[in-house]
Formats: sequence, structure tokens, C-alpha cells
Amino acid sequence: MDDGTKGRVLVAAGGGVAAMKTPFLLRRLREAGFEVRALASERALAFTTETALAVAAGSPVATEARWFAASGGALHLELARWADLLVVAPATAAGLARAAAGLAEDLTTAVITAGVPRVLWAPAMNPEMWNYPATQENVARLRGWGQAFVGPEYGALAAVGEGEGRGRMSEPETIVEHVRYHLTPKDLEGLRVIVSAGPTREYFDPVRFISNPSSGKMGYALAEAARDRGAHVTLVSGPTNLPAPWGVEVVRVERAEEMHREILERFESADAVVMAAAVADWRPAQTAAEKTAKQGSEKTVALVANPDILASLGERKGRRVLVGFAMETTSGRERARSKLERKNLDFICLNYPTQEGSAFGGDYNEVEMIFRDGSVVKTGRVSKREVANAIWDRVRGLVRERNEEGAQNA
Ligand code: C5P
Repeated sequence: MDDGTKGRVLVAAGGGVAAMKTPFLLRRLREAGFEVRALASERALAFTTETALAVAAGSPVATEARWFAASGGALHLELARWADLLVVAPATAAGLARAAAGLAEDLTTAVITAGVPRVLWAPAMNPEMWNYPATQENVARLRGWGQAFVGPEYGALAAVGEGEGRGRMSEPETIVEHVRYHLTPKDLEGLRVIVSAGPTREYFDPVRFISNPSSGKMGYALAEAARDRGAHVTLVSGPTNLPAPWGVEVVRVERAEEMHREILERFESADAVVMAAAVADWRPAQTAAEKTAKQGSEKTVALVANPDILASLGERKGRRVLVGFAMETTSGRERARSKLERKNLDFICLNYPTQEGSAFGGDYNEVEMIFRDGSVVKTGRVSKREVANAIWDRVRGLVRERNEEGAQNA
């Protein structure tokens, strides 16, 4: 999904069976809004085809055969200057060795040696080859020069009879996430943020609970966006089906009281908290230790109010930036404004559960950010990732203002 991150990405396929997936990677990168070009080593073309790569990239493929034919011999220089980032996917043990030795005999290593600004390696090989001392030393060397890695990952290996092991190339979607990370300016560097996400579950016996349909997607998008912008992120998450984002401290909870405790524990050292969780307002007054038997045709469960986590953070806010969400079906702005005041927030993000494809479960959202001075900023209907970035833009502004005030008063 396009989240507004831009950049030119050169994708180089090395000579491994995972090169079959390189066209998918190109496609995903284009869908994510990046400009792409493809490069294929001689051996890569044994596993994928020039046509597949060209169609996926939407432009001719740079090959060893074209190196000297296409532009008077300067293709490696042209590519190194064009690209913001080179992704080598798949990267072989031999490819890593050539790069670590600066052996610019092949087009990919020549592009690296010619000074492409960033390099991301997505290795794929048999686990023995990955663990071989020369490979590991080469990896350490390349890392030492500031080059980045994604994978290899644990899973089924391609060669017949090899079973499972750590050697699979990361999936195209994962590689796209890493590309996005490396191409995002780190304007939240040094900031510590807490994001809450998902629903809470309030049990009345060990197998039954009260909850809501929150998918957690908005909170996870907030966590990932902040990570990409360089923040230190803690994601306190209720139960969701979403994979734990990499590069984020994930704290899993179930009940509102647990969420409250985990957030309070980290609140002291946080610069900002965004509460995107759909915290259950009520919990059963009692939780039975055993599953309750089915009896009669009616059952009454007494409920007590859960702590309002955000309001309790508002009471000890200090200079921290506090952001809440308000999901309303009617009288949205009025209600949201009163929550903003009552919970002592910097701003509140108003959204509507009834909008098609928005809020609960969808990939898009439409949010009105309501501020203390009464101003309102609307995001329009955009991806949750873009909503997240709009929220972090404001948080960043508020943190800066506060730091400047702090410096003046000091
Ligand atoms: O009052 P309401 O539940 O509509 O407020 C929504 C905001 O307050 C959200 O940011 C939500 O995460 C937070 N909240 C909370 N603790 C609760 C209920 C809501 O932190 N018990």
C-alpha cells in the first residue's frame, strides 16, 4: 500500500532459486509507490526470466549482456546514481563474498562499488552456507560499512530433501517494509513513544469474555510508522491476528487492567502516548475460576467500570504528548471535545465506525484531529498508515514546541 514514502529502488536478482520471487518483489514495490528498476545477474536468469522481470519492473532489465552495450559502458555508474537504494534479492553466498571483497566483476558489485547510497541484502541459501564462517564474516563486514540485511528466515527450503532451516529469502512484503524503513527520514529519532492497540477481553469465566471487533490495525500502523521514522516504540497490544511488527517492543495483554499496568510502568520515560486501543469500558464484577455450567434460559452478569487508562495518564501528563481516539456514531465533535478536556489530551482523533471500509477492521480510515485550541484537521479517507503519519507529524510538532519552551524556561 502506498503510504507516501517515495524513492528509487534498484532490485538486483542474484543466482538462486528465490529469484523466482523477484518479479513479485518488483510488483509489490511498485504498488507501494516506489520507482523501480531491475538488474539480473547471469545466473539469476536460470531461475527467472528477463521478460518476467521487465514486465514487473515496467522497464528494461539491466543485465551483464547490456552492461557495456547500453550506454557506452557506464551502466553501473548510471544505476548507482539513479538509485536511492539497491536491494539484492536474492543474495547468494558468492554475491556477499564478492561485495565484501570489493570484487566489482559483476554488475551488482560494480553498482555497489560505484557508490549506490544504500544497500539492503535479502540472502537466500542453504543454512550451512549461511552459517559458514566466510559468509558470516562477509555479512559482518558489509554491516560494518552500513549495509543492511533482511532475513534469511526460517522455513521450508527449496532444494529437494533439505527440509526446513534458516535460509529462506524473506517474503516480498517483508522486504518492502524494510525498503520503506530505510527510505524514511528519521524525524522522530530520539523520541520514546507508546502506542496501544486492539481490543481488550474481559473474562467472566476462563473461556468467555466481553470484547469488541477492534482489529488493531490502526494501532499497528501507528507503531510501524513511528518505527520507520526512527522513534523507540512500545506497542501494548490486546489480542489481534496481526503479526508482531519488527523493530518494536511488543507487550501483549488481554484485560484493560493489564494494559493499564503495562502502560503506567513505561509512562515515566515516554515522550508521547497514542491510545488507539478499543478498551472495554466494563468488566464482569467477578471472574469464575471454572467454566460456568449452562443453566436456565437467562443469565445476568454484573459489570463494573474499567479504569479509564487515558484519563489516568492525563492526570500525570507532565510535558508528555497525549493522544486519544474517539469512535462515535452521533454528535461526534461535541463528544470528542468533551473527552479531549476530560482526559487532558493534546488532541483527539475522531472517527466513525459506520463509514464503509473505515475504522474497525479496514485498511483505510478517515480521521478528524481535534486540538485544544478548537482547530480541526481532517485527513480525508486514506490508508491507516497515512493517518498514522499525519498523527505523528502533529505529535512531533508538539514535542518540539515543548522542548523549545523547556529550553527557554531553563
Ligand atoms: O471514552 P472513550 O472510550 O470513547 O475514549 C476513547 C479513548 O480513551 C481512546 O483513546 C481509548 O483508547 C481510551 N480509553 C482508555 N481507557 C478506557 C476507555 C477508553 O484509555 N477504559
